[in-house]
Amino acid sequence: MKTVGSRASVSAPWRLASAIPAAVLLALATSAPAQAPWPKADPAPTFHFAPQRNWMNDPNGLVYYDGEYHLFFQYNPHGDRWGHISWGHAVSRDLVNWQELPVAIPETEVMAFSGSAVIDWKNSSGFGKDGKPAMVAIYTGFDPRTRNQSQFVAYSNDRGRTFTPFGKVLDIGSTEFRDPKVFWHEPTQRWVMVVAKATEKKASIYSSADLKDWRHESDFGPTPSSRGINWECPDLFELPVEGGKAGEKKWVLSVSQGNDAPNGSGGQWFVGSFDGHRFSLEPGWTDAPVWTDQGADFYASASWNGVPDGRRVWIGWATNLRYAHAIPTYPARGLMTVARTLSLRREGTAWRLAQAPVRELEKYRGAVHRVTNLKVTQEPKVLPLGESLDMRLTLDPMTAQQVTLNLTDAKGYQLVIGYTPATREIFIDRTRSGPHVHDAFAGRHIAVLPPGEREISFRLIVDRSIAELYAEGGTRTITDRFFRGEGALTWSVSALGGEAMIRSLEAWPIEIKRPLSQQ
Ligand code: FRU
Repeated sequence: MKTVGSRASVSAPWRLASAIPAAVLLALATSAPAQAPWPKADPAPTFHFAPQRNWMNDPNGLVYYDGEYHLFFQYNPHGDRWGHISWGHAVSRDLVNWQELPVAIPETEVMAFSGSAVIDWKNSSGFGKDGKPAMVAIYTGFDPRTRNQSQFVAYSNDRGRTFTPFGKVLDIGSTEFRDPKVFWHEPTQRWVMVVAKATEKKASIYSSADLKDWRHESDFGPTPSSRGINWECPDLFELPVEGGKAGEKKWVLSVSQGNDAPNGSGGQWFVGSFDGHRFSLEPGWTDAPVWTDQGADFYASASWNGVPDGRRVWIGWATNLRYAHAIPTYPARGLMTVARTLSLRREGTAWRLAQAPVRELEKYRGAVHRVTNLKVTQEPKVLPLGESLDMRLTLDPMTAQQVTLNLTDAKGYQLVIGYTPATREIFIDRTRSGPHVHDAFAGRHIAVLPPGEREISFRLIVDRSIAELYAEGGTRTITDRFFRGEGALTWSVSALGGEAMIRSLEAWPIEIKRPLSQQ
């Protein structure tokens, strides 16, 4: 029986653990991949982070310290399916060029589920050493025998390379209590934790003076917009309001939702205020869910603590819980999006979260390929572009009913990125992007642009098996994986039902020269 789109087809990876006895789960997790390596092994992305091998899910412990951005992640060191969950580790000096390091927090009697990391500058925990602050990880320990989920602390005195377990700090006797995001709240001089009471669809707020002793402050949710089986991976941060009153700031609460987002799992977000104790929704906030991305592959997003220039930067796990296990890559299964800078603005009465690839990506741009005033007709015109690039495009649809950029492989499979002027829809269509991956994979994902000029501009990031489309200043994003049948990808552009004009296209190959050990 097919279960496309039904609840049965969507389950958080850890849920398998509650349905299957631990021993069986572990055997499954360490067994050979469920399928033969994808035809010719789908090429690894060049500038998106993927571990060199094995299973990866959520980004964890995002923190900046001493010149390094840390990206820890949910990782199975022993196989390419979910299991033995530990914290993998990568570092970067610029949020783009990542170097994978050994596992930082291994599985013990508990798996190390998602969480966050802080630098304890004031040594409130006493974990600092030799006058240097500790990096403190706060994460969910999942006990496969009891299925209990509680919050654990471990600390590092060597820049995140190794961690000393401190132990359990918060246990409410729940099997659905996970993914603590901790940050320093200056006005109350307290650490704040936002953590999911997952199946209750609550983001629960705790505070602490020392990262060990946690006091419950309040719960946010469920809201009229809550749907699906759960909320996971909450985040809470303050953003300046672009174009707002001088110094105006708002708090953003984001949560990942295990299913019933438009394309399966996804993220939703809220604007409000936060006083260190309680998150209160902005008056008039809509009862409809507001999604972080219109594609299918942006999940478990989390933001960095302590970015030196004050930017708020987040990153997502580029997959969907519907088919995360079926992603046909080998020997690694799991990919992050590019790191994205966030801003908050208004569009009429609506609030918009705008996302843009971090500016550091631009320094990896190779020689530009430029096109101006190119007439586009039904006959596809080939563009001599590569598979890993950063593109800006301004398009006049003129009389066309649809204009598309097509990425075609040697077997004729095609990923289509397009614009339909009548409905002002931008879209990514992966209905025929490659051989069958999973029943829930094929699809067309759309975002609607607000009323405006006939000419539109967008930015497109492509890296071999992922496309990230940013339109309308990044207030509309579509993030989608795709998998080819065979051979190299060829770019072309075409129009349906009339003629269009590419006013300007600039495409830069993104070239990262990694040390040999990282290739
Ligand atoms: C989200 C999630 C988290 C959990 C982790 C386990 O994908 O289910 O809620 O901590 O994955 O790997």
